[in-house]
Amino acid sequence: SCPPRPALIGTKKGTFAYFTIKDRLPVIITRVVDHVYRTYSVLPNDVAHADTIREAKGIIEALGKLRYEMQTDKPLTPLLQDNMGDHLVWNSIMETYFPQKTWFSATWLFSECYMYRRIYQCFSLTTHWRDFDYFAEQKKDTFHASDRAVAALADRTLALCQEATMQLDETSRHTAFMELAQASLWGNKTDLSLLVNLDLADVHSLQGGEGGHAQDRSSFIVVNHLEAWWAQVRTWSGVRIDIVLDNSGFESFVDLVFAHWLVATGYCSKVVFHCKAIPWFVSDTTIPDFHWLVQTCRDRFQHATHLTNSEHLGGLETLGDQWQDHLMLGRWELRADAFWTSPYAFWHLPRGTAPVPVNTAGSAANSGPGASSHTTSSAALFADLQQNSAAVIFKGDLNYRKLLYDCEWDLTTPFSTALGPLAQVGTQLPVVSLRTSKCDLMVGLQPGQGEELDKRDPKWMVNGKFAVIEVSFPDKA
Ligand code: F6P
Ligand code: MG
Repeated sequence: SCPPRPALIGTKKGTFAYFTIKDRLPVIITRVVDHVYRTYSVLPNDVAHADTIREAKGIIEALGKLRYEMQTDKPLTPLLQDNMGDHLVWNSIMETYFPQKTWFSATWLFSECYMYRRIYQCFSLTTHWRDFDYFAEQKKDTFHASDRAVAALADRTLALCQEATMQLDETSRHTAFMELAQASLWGNKTDLSLLVNLDLADVHSLQGGEGGHAQDRSSFIVVNHLEAWWAQVRTWSGVRIDIVLDNSGFESFVDLVFAHWLVATGYCSKVVFHCKAIPWFVSDTTIPDFHWLVQTCRDRFQHATHLTNSEHLGGLETLGDQWQDHLMLGRWELRADAFWTSPYAFWHLPRGTAPVPVNTAGSAANSGPGASSHTTSSAALFADLQQNSAAVIFKGDLNYRKLLYDCEWDLTTPFSTALGPLAQVGTQLPVVSLRTSKCDLMVGLQPGQGEELDKRDPKWMVNGKFAVIEVSFPDKA
């Protein structure tokens, strides 16, 4: 099934899609080039490194070509076979839906995903760089810059969990739920593909200042289904939930905090975290990123430079140790299905028409405690979610775009309409979307609300200051 609205597309000048392909994406490629250059140029110029250096030069050349094709709006070209094993899926979608289409004239969603897939291809076709995460440095630096907010939140979480295990009344749990769900929501502000020139002060202000506690930003949540979600959560006992993670570092830290509380309270007994199989949209979380984050907490930010009072970090270490236990004991599970880095919107998830192959990229990328094998098709992934998950929480802007098929919906379209199959009988999923708005796409507003927001802040849809919490749960039989 196809949505009744046209897709967002790069040819429309003045749209965020146009701005992204024209201005944002070339910068992202340039930064990857710069990173490869800095990495290889410090290597000794000897026989042992000759191949690595030769391949690095080849990658830089391929990335330059990619950027040139994009900036001059050339037709999209087929992918080669590499170690993701999914090139035929991409190529058949390109042939079927986008024949003769260019970077700007294919749909924005396809072109943007295709760019990240092409960047990966440049590395994947080499021997020495195939497992190199060219975004890792940015992800790690930003998390280190978040240390104050992280340390404060760790202590707060432990306090809330202690309260929870003391069998506190439901009102207190409700309050804690509201606080942590909103922390998880606002964590989505720290997206590195939008904030290409972040400095430390920016990171701190994004995370709510010194203490890291969420200020009352509820008037910035323009669609807020949090109470409807709580009505579900309060009935849960030992359920499984799934979190389709977005950005690594601070955002995934607050997601883990939220998941930690949901397990500590007994509402959930299992949380499946869905990571990306390849570096994606700059800051998205891979399985190695997840492990790195847990380890960094356990190590009390050993390498951080701005913390003066190391006493603050005991809570963080405790939390990190408990997370490691969750992973070892299978209460938390990590997965990286190739579907999440495929060109598909989530309307395609249940149909499973085109098989999405298992990611065969280097075993190191998907191992470690808690990591499990991938499902082999979107249909299998969907069936698992439908049968076993009490809520699938989709974090962030890109997931929201994929949920809504990245179309020009009217602002007042109901969320469940825009979800298409995921809200229809037989193919319904319990969907929760937590997203700060970073592109010109939104549904679920009241009549007149969009006009009011235009007056309040002309850039409200794209500047990441406004957010939505939208849910769609199947009716209980
Ligand atoms: O570039 C498209 C986009 O969806 C932006 O609007 C946003 O900056 C970015 O990708 C990803 O945001 P997020 O990390 O919240 O998915
Ligand atoms: Mg992201």
